[in-house]
Amino acid sequence: MAGVRLEQITQRFGTTVAVQGVTFAVPDGEFWVLVGPSGCGKSTLLRAIAGLESVTEGDLYIGDRRVNDLPARQRDVAMVFQNYALYPHMTVAQNLAFGLRMRQVPATERESQVLQVARSLDIDHLLNRKPGQLSGGQQQRVALGRAIARRPQVFLLDEPLSNLDAQLRDGTRAELKQLHQKFGITTLYVTHDQVEAMTLSDRVVMLDQGQVQQIGTPQDLYSRPANRRVAAFLGSPPMNVLTAIFDGTGFWINGQPLAMPAHLPQAVSLSSNQVVSLGIRPEQVSLAFGDEMALTVTVQVVEPLGRETLIRGIIPAQNDSQSPQSLAVLMLPHSRPIPGESLRIRIDPNHLFLFDLGSGTTLYPPEKMD
Ligand SMILES: Nc1ncnc2c1ncn2[C@@H]1O[C@H](COP(=O)(O)OP(=O)(O)O)[C@@H](O)[C@H]1O
Ligand SMILES: [Mg+2]
Repeated sequence: MAGVRLEQITQRFGTTVAVQGVTFAVPDGEFWVLVGPSGCGKSTLLRAIAGLESVTEGDLYIGDRRVNDLPARQRDVAMVFQNYALYPHMTVAQNLAFGLRMRQVPATERESQVLQVARSLDIDHLLNRKPGQLSGGQQQRVALGRAIARRPQVFLLDEPLSNLDAQLRDGTRAELKQLHQKFGITTLYVTHDQVEAMTLSDRVVMLDQGQVQQIGTPQDLYSRPANRRVAAFLGSPPMNVLTAIFDGTGFWINGQPLAMPAHLPQAVSLSSNQVVSLGIRPEQVSLAFGDEMALTVTVQVVEPLGRETLIRGIIPAQNDSQSPQSLAVLMLPHSRPIPGESLRIRIDPNHLFLFDLGSGTTLYPPEKMD
């Protein structure tokens, strides 16, 4: 097995810069997820590592070997795509054995490896079927199995669960994690789904517009996002991002005052009348009690989710210089406010994020805070 290292990788297609200056190193045996919105350059990076595309600039290493000029088949990586790309005329067993046959592994060893992989993926009862006789989930397992059976140095997965229905996706996601625990193959997994990124990875690389936004553990990115893009991308429902003005002592949103985080004045220096982006996650917002400081919000849509109720509300504008701002609030499941109703909402000041209005860089919480 081997780690994967990218140094200043840039990939251009004509005038399109798909990926720009990407640097990271996946240690041997770890499971890393590349996440970001559609079109941010995830597949381009994976294809470059696999050798399906040669990189415009930068250095690519698998283990200690620089592989920029090495053809795909000599890189010892296995890639699984969203569309399973199985050989339709071959049985499941033949599909699983394909890579081993190419490497001229003897028949008896081939059979025992195929059987082991088929058992671990729970497809051993399907070995004699053709792909056309399988469900989508079963086909995807065969595609994974075919890649695992080769025992590659590196496993590259590009949105492998996107074609599965929600239930099957959850199950297969858990199985992928188990497979990694069992075989320990260095894995790079691409997804636009933040839940997959959070649940599967040792570390997440968040990309946007071809550039790395942040690299860290899922918890790092969730609790200490480097900027507004990372903050708004991870978490479901997404973080509320509100425009607020600092008056020298506290924040105001559309003319309504907000409680201040206790450590904020020491941590960030803001000028009076500075406009900032405030972030607050829907789960850190609740109904206010009594006369505690609260924001008045007009309910627009109520979405019962079973375990909780999601309220989508509006912080109204109080004059022409303001715009109404949306606020999503997660409430207890029995809460059923009525659209049009006004609610008094408490925003937990200890969970506020503060972003620079222009650049989006996180101002608060600072990188290190005890
Ligand atoms: N072969 C190509 N030729 C031209 N542009 C491409 C090619 N492949 C990808 N791109 C462009 O590069 C950007 C990143 O694409 P891609 O890596 O597929 O994004 P993602 O997988 O994150 O959705 C997009 O703007 C896409 O249109
Ligand atoms: Mg893609």
